[in-house]
Amino acid sequence: MKEKYTTSAKETTILGFQVGLLLKPGMILLLEGDLAAGKTTFTKGIGQALGIERTINSPTFTIMKRYMKDENKLYHVDLYRLDDINTDFDLEDYINSDGVSVIEWPFKVKDLLPKEYLMVSFTVLDNDQRKITFEAKGDFYESVVRYL
Ligand SMILES: Nc1ncnc2c1ncn2[C@@H]1O[C@H](COP(=O)(O)OP(=O)(O)OP(=O)(O)O)[C@@H](O)[C@H]1O
Ligand SMILES: [Mg+2]
Repeated sequence: MKEKYTTSAKETTILGFQVGLLLKPGMILLLEGDLAAGKTTFTKGIGQALGIERTINSPTFTIMKRYMKDENKLYHVDLYRLDDINTDFDLEDYINSDGVSVIEWPFKVKDLLPKEYLMVSFTVLDNDQRKITFEAKGDFYESVVRYL
């Protein structure tokens, strides 16, 4: 487990960038934390590390957005509104081994979560201050946490 602190949205994006450099295709990141805690801000940094030029916005109204740059792919999933949709939902449909998957509000589907993942938890400490913790579940993710 590792704990980081940021004092601006920019710092959180930079942290996402640093994490993004360590990611490999097939990795799954679960981003947990309150509204406006910084999950999408962090994802923007991951996108930058993957060379993605298109602006990464919250995919709240589409469940998933896919971004590509050359061989790099980022699947950005937001399950916040899942309650409103249906129960016939399978997270596997949105996870692809050819890219990095980032999932906001993962506990909306807590029974469907993969066995291994990198959990990133965001806590709002103050207006601009966030605590961001990283926890690896499975060997594949240990190296990411180690090098942070
Ligand atoms: N240290 C910080 N890290 C990240 N965001 C910050 C920080 N300080 C202030 N902010 C602001 O907090 C907001 C974070 O919004 P963001 O969309 O990233 O949150 P989110 O966790 O994805 O929320 P949601 O659950 O609604 O999708 C932005 O307006 C950002 O400018
Ligand atoms: Mg978001």
